Amino acid sequence: MSAPWIYIHNLAQHEGESVTIKGWMYNKRSSGKIHFLQLRDGTGTVQGVMVKREVSEEAFENAKRLWLEASVEVEGTVRLDERAPSGVELTVTGLKVIQNPDEEYPIGKKDHGIDFLLDNRHLWLRSSRQQAIMRIRERVIWAAREYLHNEGFMLIDSPILTGSIGEGASGLFELDYFENDKAYLAQTGQLYAEAAAAAFGKVYCFGPTFRAEKSKTRRHLTEFWMLEPEVAFYDHDLNIKLQENLVAYIVEHVLLHCKNELESLGRDLSKLEKVKPPFYRITYDKAIEMLHELGSSTPYGDDFGNEDETILTQQFDKPIFVECYPKKVKAFYMKEHPENPDLVLCDDLLAPEGYGEIIGGSQREDDMKRLIARIKEEGLNEKSYDWYLDLRKFGTFVHSGFGMGIERVIAWICGLEHIREASPWPRTIYRIKP
Ligand code: 4AD
Ligand code: MG
Repeated sequence: MSAPWIYIHNLAQHEGESVTIKGWMYNKRSSGKIHFLQLRDGTGTVQGVMVKREVSEEAFENAKRLWLEASVEVEGTVRLDERAPSGVELTVTGLKVIQNPDEEYPIGKKDHGIDFLLDNRHLWLRSSRQQAIMRIRERVIWAAREYLHNEGFMLIDSPILTGSIGEGASGLFELDYFENDKAYLAQTGQLYAEAAAAAFGKVYCFGPTFRAEKSKTRRHLTEFWMLEPEVAFYDHDLNIKLQENLVAYIVEHVLLHCKNELESLGRDLSKLEKVKPPFYRITYDKAIEMLHELGSSTPYGDDFGNEDETILTQQFDKPIFVECYPKKVKAFYMKEHPENPDLVLCDDLLAPEGYGEIIGGSQREDDMKRLIARIKEEGLNEKSYDWYLDLRKFGTFVHSGFGMGIERVIAWICGLEHIREASPWPRTIYRIKP
């Protein structure tokens, strides 16, 4: 192919020119004298029109034999076409088949079961729906990092292998680590982000985190990505403000850059357009009262179940902060409430429309004695926290932070039924393949 290689999303700038595109054929219609080749190259899709008398006999015959997902190079002339999604059409002048499959592509137009699709995740990603979700995922991450960068935050990574349990002893992936030592896959990068906050002030870490969750729900993965800001001298209130502004920024930027993708997923944009500060803010006490009125039987003092979060958030048209949970249902590092030692200064941010928790955050316990007491109460090994306690020993400081589950945010923004579609390679109790 002698014409220059152009990506499909740039074709409109090449009207009337002869170009080459490299990609895959994802659909085809043919009459005796004309083939309509639907082509994609990752940047977009375009229809290639191949007329029998305008190409070599060989090219026309090759096109006739193409199976779906054949990889091809196609040469043609760019024509503007207002009806086409890409705004252009290609009048094909040449075809080079890179590889034509020997068998039918397994993912067809008919409805496939979810297990079949997940088994074929490596191919399923090529579908327009999965591409829309992954583009939104990329934008969510980009927007979050852009916001934090603009606000003066520094990205500082945390380890995946750790000897200090981050959240609690249940739900841990444990590994043998050389000479009789144990390591855990990080449930959170928070403890390290706290240390980094004492060095750099405003920081965040962002990476994969792991939970050996036995729960088979539409909200849980065993591996998920978490964005965790941590700020020195931020209290609970400033922490909440940061969460609100970050989430609003992400939604605003997804709406700005991914409208087509959201529409292709059938998302109701008006619901997302409402996501502007201030969000709702209620205490745990108030939330449990509301839940009881809504028919929940969760007793006061317990954590909310998935069902509770669903019914609670169906009552709201914007994200809602639930703050000050009972200490006994939350992690050891949260700061005791100054007016009630049974509560902690924490918040969960719940997404509306039944989506539930997307962020968990708190002010951190900066009092050495109380922190040690909590570590013991939780049955954690005090020795593995000596470095963490140093942060209270050498210049302790009020500080707060939170963790935002990326896949939870994507599932909500995209309006997905299940979190697994929000991850390119979802891991659940029953799935580590592909
Ligand atoms: O509420 P979590 O457990 O909080 C922490 O891990 C804190 N150490 C974060 C911090 O303060 N730096 O988890 C935070 C978020 C949840 O709100 C949820 O969005 C997500 O992580 N998350 C999960 N996402 C998918 N699958 C799971 N199994 C998840 N568990 C938590
Ligand atoms: Mg939580």
